[in-house]
Amino acid sequence: MRKIRTYQDVSHSTESELLEQVIEQQERLADRLSPIKCLVAIASGKGGVGKSAITANLAVGLASRGFKVGATDADLNGPSLGRMLNVSGATLGDSADGVAPAKSPTGVSVMSMELLQSEADAPLQWREPSLGGFIWQSSLETGVLREFLGDVAWGDLDVLLIDVPPGTDKIKRLLEILPSLDLMLLVTTPSETTRFVVAKSIRLAQEARIENIGLVENMESHVCPSCGHVSKLFGTEANEEELPYGTVSLWGSIPFDPRLGASTDEGRPLISTDPTAAVSIALQALVERVSEHINGGAQ
Ligand SMILES: Nc1ncnc2c1ncn2[C@@H]1O[C@H](COP(=O)(O)OP(=O)(O)O)[C@@H](O)[C@H]1O
Ligand SMILES: [Mg+2]
Repeated sequence: MRKIRTYQDVSHSTESELLEQVIEQQERLADRLSPIKCLVAIASGKGGVGKSAITANLAVGLASRGFKVGATDADLNGPSLGRMLNVSGATLGDSADGVAPAKSPTGVSVMSMELLQSEADAPLQWREPSLGGFIWQSSLETGVLREFLGDVAWGDLDVLLIDVPPGTDKIKRLLEILPSLDLMLLVTTPSETTRFVVAKSIRLAQEARIENIGLVENMESHVCPSCGHVSKLFGTEANEEELPYGTVSLWGSIPFDPRLGASTDEGRPLISTDPTAAVSIALQALVERVSEHINGGAQ
């Protein structure tokens, strides 16, 4: 599957050959993605805010509405989508058109680094030169991401969701290789530290002139399972006017519910297993908004 040359392969090549190779890969990527109706990135800049859990529930929610959905796990070091969409252990198929993605029981096509690793607890290790490996790491990561998008036989999906790893630099790298992006959902939590980081991602997305940027506030409240009392999960509530989010519109507001984490982490996204839970209803509102977007309706 790997087409990009390794360090050893390219060390004797001229710069122009390398450039040609990158241009050819970009063209292949653009061809592959062109039949896909809507490309959506779920990012944040921050880790642990619920990007993967929201991606998994969004994917299942959209698939249950009849959309053809794909989900690619751009988080190579901490892949979660395979587990959350219940395809761990699946074998990737090989077709003349490229790698056949794994299919979740809920009908979502999935690609994740987890599907390429034989042991669940194996950390990702690059085959890089022992000295100066860090110089090549970003290029290797970008190469794999390009393959996850461009060498997979996605077919004519309605929507491809991309679960972007933490770090604003990762958002930037992704935008560099994508021919276009229809929507970026930025996941945040009501914590001052998270806001500070997510504000940078918003600015990055705005500077990249992404037309549709939606904010999803996760863990915005906690409903007591025994008495139903709604409380705040974080103590650092900001004054609305002080929020560094500018004019970015709120696409979703998702409460904290331990059942969401437990069920999704087990590979059964709560949106399908308990659709009447308050958190599932909140997720459905996000699914609805994204559905309208895919159908080219109100944004
Ligand atoms: N609203 C929520 N309520 C309860 N648990 C959640 C919620 N959102 C995410 N989680 C859980 O929190 C953990 C971290 O979320 P995850 O999606 O892996 O974050 P990220 O992808 O941003 O690093 C996971 O176990 C996930 O299932
Ligand atoms: Mg994640």
